[in-house]
Amino acid sequence: MKTLRLALAAALTSCLALLPLAAAGPAAGAEGRAADGDRPLRRLAADDRLRIGTAVDTTALADDAAYRRLTGSEFSTVTAENVMKWEALEPRRGEYDYAAADRLTRYAERHGQKVRGHVLVWHSQLPSWLTTGDFDAQELRAILRRHITDTVRHFKGRIWQWDVVNEAFNEDGTLRDSIWLRKLGPGYIADAFRWARRADPHALLFYNDYNTEWTGPKSDAVLDLMSRLRAEGVPVDGVGFQGHLGIQYGLPTDMAANFARFEKLGLRTAVTEADVRMVLPADEAKLRTQAEGYRLLLDACLRTRHCLSFTVWGFTDRYSWVPDTFEGQGAANILDEDYRPKPAYRALQAALAGRARPAAAE
Ligand code: XIL
Repeated sequence: MKTLRLALAAALTSCLALLPLAAAGPAAGAEGRAADGDRPLRRLAADDRLRIGTAVDTTALADDAAYRRLTGSEFSTVTAENVMKWEALEPRRGEYDYAAADRLTRYAERHGQKVRGHVLVWHSQLPSWLTTGDFDAQELRAILRRHITDTVRHFKGRIWQWDVVNEAFNEDGTLRDSIWLRKLGPGYIADAFRWARRADPHALLFYNDYNTEWTGPKSDAVLDLMSRLRAEGVPVDGVGFQGHLGIQYGLPTDMAANFARFEKLGLRTAVTEADVRMVLPADEAKLRTQAEGYRLLLDACLRTRHCLSFTVWGFTDRYSWVPDTFEGQGAANILDEDYRPKPAYRALQAALAGRARPAAAE
């Protein structure tokens, strides 16, 4: 009986997940209704063999039914916004807490979604036992190797793309001064990819960074690193462009050309954390510029044959990291705080509906 109930509940959840945006949120009233009713992003992108993703706030996923429904109906891949980071997974040395991350991967499986694993090696959101531990190089290397191996093994077969190394560069193209660079030297990057590959040979392994969407010293440096790693046989499969834009800086125009440089190296690409913030208050003109920012990011991906996924860093202004991180800024997402579609959401719909990629991505 219990199994039957569970099966019925699961069936109901997946039906609800297919409800169009207009019917999803309690606050999605007439003004928020999709003009043609039923065009969730994931469905529009399916013909392009492009996955549309979102970062997931797992607290909202548990507590907010509208958020939960939209996560399932609009997206075909998910990324944990925080629960796969080191401080969350290994809060005490050698003691792992995978519960929240496992709940998210189960949600994804029930909704036919692939999972981007985020993140194995980063300078931020590290547990304090690690940052204050004063380990020597040998011990720190063993700690890093173990964290990568344990984590990738735990999720083996359930992660589509791993962000293996995140944000290793400064704006000027030099390597960021982090605990990893300081103690292990630049070789930590290649090591991380090798350890990840060994732990799950089928996951696609990505380098991920921001302000690398356009050409410039930072993306030049990433390109150079990628080409060296490939030449040395280091198992790196792709590059993630985070896509955190701000309209006050002007919108980048050469993103497709930049993505093409990575494609030429034989790498997959992905937009991994798109959001387009603005100085508050929002107004119509700013929202239009924001829509153009999202459109340009998606367009760069659509023009790149092996751009596998386009992921937004949260989909609603209700839960966004932006106001907490960038003072005076916000309104960065594609739905407003009441889940009503903004011009940015319409722009993504239109861009996906308006074209089919000439050649399919694998
Ligand atoms: C952010 C999360 O959204 C916040 O909730 C958290 O407090 C800090 O990290 N680049 C990344 C992401 O790779 O992991 C960051 O996520 C945003 C910038």
